[in-house]
Amino acid sequence: MDKKLKIIAICGSPRRGNTYNILEILKQSDSEIDLKILMLSELNLMDCFGCYSCINTGEENCPLKDDRDMIIEEMKAADGTIFASPTYARTVSALMKKFVERTSYISHRPIFFGKHAMALTTCAGFGGDLTCKYLNENFTQSGFNFVTSLELMVSTKSETETDYNHKKAINEYSKLITVIKAQEEFKPSLGQLVYFNIFKSISELNKVKGWADYEFYKDKKDFYFDINIPFMKNKIAKWIAGREIKKMKANK
Ligand SMILES: Cc1cc2nc3c(=O)[nH]c(=O)nc-3n(C[C@H](O)[C@H](O)[C@H](O)COP(=O)(O)O)c2cc1C
Repeated sequence: MDKKLKIIAICGSPRRGNTYNILEILKQSDSEIDLKILMLSELNLMDCFGCYSCINTGEENCPLKDDRDMIIEEMKAADGTIFASPTYARTVSALMKKFVERTSYISHRPIFFGKHAMALTTCAGFGGDLTCKYLNENFTQSGFNFVTSLELMVSTKSETETDYNHKKAINEYSKLITVIKAQEEFKPSLGQLVYFNIFKSISELNKVKGWADYEFYKDKKDFYFDINIPFMKNKIAKWIAGREIKKMKANK
């Protein structure tokens, strides 16, 4: 028997409300998939106080000992991740923002290449697109491939609206599952190559204080791991990165 696909949903709502309900619908929609919902509100996740230990000296040196690493291990073990947050004040909830901050060292040293994700938000009507964009941009930099974004309006709570939302949610979720099942070979995008080159160059400028990045990048050549990159694509990426680094240096 094939192993069940494992999906982890990180839910940034402070309550088991609209966003959680949609995740429950997804969970019930396919018994062949093991969908686990992690409510950030029910976990121990402390506020980042900006000491830079994780970025500069390694995530293991973060002074906050809480559930951060457990959540990351769940994401690593899963075949796909759903980043779910209600839209509060036109962006992610404070809880989700905290999670983004506590994991932002991963955007320096990405670990989720080859993993697929989707963004999910519920809102009354305004800013859901900004929430999804925020989740997408942050976690793409950690290596995730975002298959889709799901923005659901829950303003009237009518039967028609609920029915529409459930159908739409299941439809977008199935896109994520289809991409995971297809197991396509990973090919770095131009953007990913550019980011690699920028972070590698910056790590060389900050060897002493930022040795975690320096150690991570120093033996890497064209990407985070050995992979065939078309010659011209690689050249263009290095050119774009070089231009961006020049701009950064000009600011000093
Ligand atoms: C503090 C707060 C701020 C909100 N801000 C927005 C907003 O900017 N745009 C919007 O469309 N809905 C907004 N809403 C409505 C929620 O996005 C909507 O009710 C959502 O489904 C709540 O999800 P939850 O039950 O998982 O918390 C806000 C709700 C709260 C409590």
